[in-house]
Amino acid sequence: MKSANTVSYRGKITCEHRENLLDQKSLVLWFTGLSGSGKSTIAHAVEERLHAMGRLTYVFDGDNVRHGLCGDLDFSPAGRAENLRRISEMVKLFLDAGMICLTAFISPLRADRERCGNQIGRGRFYEIYVKCPLEVCEQRDVKGLYQMAREGRIKNYTGVGSPYEEPLNPDLVLETSELSLLACVDKVVDFVQERIK
Ligand code: ADX
Repeated sequence: MKSANTVSYRGKITCEHRENLLDQKSLVLWFTGLSGSGKSTIAHAVEERLHAMGRLTYVFDGDNVRHGLCGDLDFSPAGRAENLRRISEMVKLFLDAGMICLTAFISPLRADRERCGNQIGRGRFYEIYVKCPLEVCEQRDVKGLYQMAREGRIKNYTGVGSPYEEPLNPDLVLETSELSLLACVDKVVDFVQERIK
């Protein structure tokens, strides 16, 4: 830490007060998976469902965050690690505010995801593996980036020039080449409902 001589201020209103006000428990659903696997689509669809149920939610999305807070970071291992460290700190603030957070970042490395979970706090961090074969993600190629990677125009694209390490022990797995969006959303909402009471 370079910011020496700083002392945290603890207000009287805590996370628990805010959770009670909102009548929910804060937690983060950490969606991980290849680009094009469906992380953002599912996270936003789950948010819509939870919102309709009267829950306060927020989705953190890789592409969006990289336009702002993390716009100075690249896709090198160090750039990705710093991206996820900043996001984890941001998520911590939103959790403290009492919100149900959903994140959609490739977060390709186990060690980085492990660090995020530790940084955020194990009791309210849930890893959701959005599983989809690389060939299917490439076929979808929603943003045309896999093709660019295959042509060598993006050097370290996840799944092509850079690794994706599957979660070993995720809290939930969603196989998006097998299940419909609706079925995935149902699974996540069932999972959440048990944990926000
Ligand atoms: S992460 O690896 O640091 O977790 P993040 O989820 O923030 O990645 O960003 C991934 C998005 O950035 C992809 O959906 C894609 O649109 C874009 N992108 C651009 N270059 C790359 C790359 N080299 N590898 C992966 N995604 C990339």
